Amino acid sequence: MDPRTTVRAQPAARTTSSDAGVPQAIHHDRRASRHRRSWHRPLTPGTAIGRYVVHKVLGRGGMGIVYGAVDPTLGRRVAIKLVRGEGKPAQRYRQRLQREALALARLCHPNIVSLFDIGTTTYGTFVAMEYVRGIDLRRWLHVAPRSIEDVLEVFRAAGEGLAAAHEAGLVHRDFKPTNVMVTADRRVKVLDFGLARGEPSVDPWLDATDGSLLSRRMTRADTVVGTTGYMPPEQLLGREVSPASDQFAFCVALYEALHGARPFPGKTPVEQARSYASGIRTEVALRRDVPARIRDALERGMEMDDHLRFRTMRDLLDALAPPPPPSRTRRALLMGALVATTALASSVVTSWFAAQPATAACQGE
Ligand SMILES: Nc1ncnc2c1ncn2[C@@H]1O[C@H](COP(=O)(O)OP(=O)(O)OP(=O)(O)O)[C@@H](O)[C@H]1O
Ligand SMILES: [Mg+2]
Repeated sequence: MDPRTTVRAQPAARTTSSDAGVPQAIHHDRRASRHRRSWHRPLTPGTAIGRYVVHKVLGRGGMGIVYGAVDPTLGRRVAIKLVRGEGKPAQRYRQRLQREALALARLCHPNIVSLFDIGTTTYGTFVAMEYVRGIDLRRWLHVAPRSIEDVLEVFRAAGEGLAAAHEAGLVHRDFKPTNVMVTADRRVKVLDFGLARGEPSVDPWLDATDGSLLSRRMTRADTVVGTTGYMPPEQLLGREVSPASDQFAFCVALYEALHGARPFPGKTPVEQARSYASGIRTEVALRRDVPARIRDALERGMEMDDHLRFRTMRDLLDALAPPPPPSRTRRALLMGALVATTALASSVVTSWFAAQPATAACQGE
């Protein structure tokens, strides 16, 4: 295929192209941005949030600021995500932070950031988590050229984190490169479970209401929050999400990492919904060296109809796994074939020389 041609997607099966299909709440929330302006001034180093002492800003997100801090009691670094402010937006962000803590509390996996604590102080509500010394995946992809196998390896690790969340009954709902951290020694951690939804817990020790916020339907505003470029059609349209929705976001992010652009154009939710509905794809020079099996797996993970995607994240990860090395018997057979071919070639050459007239060997003497 000519790599410069526009690749047309299958016509979207279950989305509509009308602007009315995109929930109004996704349009810019002015109150929320006013709230952000007033509460996004960072705390000064040395400020105490509970028992933790702020050291520096690690990152800023839509909800608040993430600080690198010190836990003097345990003598270690932590990351503190703090939501400040008053009024409706802050209340919504606090609920998201609580949701994040509940989701992380259910998870214990090397590819998911660990939760240490949640609390409220005069500065606001915070969660304390494992400090990940690294850069987010978006930067990781930009700071140095990455081979296809390196990109796949890092994404597979992030996918393991998502698969573990799914196995614990959770859907992340906001998978994107800035919600993944990569350390210098290539450890990969998925973060930001603030939009996660989960099944009610089945732990007999717990009361039915313990942690029920996770399974509660979100407010209309939160239902459609996510990141436009990565959100699957069902989430963009405010419909029910499932683990297959994370699969879609994961495949969009991996496609972007491999080919340099997201597959579906759209700067706004409405434009995005239109490209989903009409099957428009971004015109992008596809990298020819991406193996066909990887391209096929991504297309399947990005099907508009969530039923046509892989059955589970695990199945998608299997499809993205490197091809198995030749088994011992296959390797022995290959070696045998190689030895036989070499022997045959050398006997052909020997007989050819033997067949040459004796004078030929003495030419020039
Ligand atoms: N545990 C951590 N260790 C190190 N850095 C972190 C950690 N958690 C978050 N960060 C940094 O802070 C940034 C924002 O964090 P996070 O995505 O959790 O915030 P957010 O407010 O939910 O963001 P948004 O809603 O915009 O996605 C991350 O991209 C990362 O750079
Ligand atoms: Mg984030």
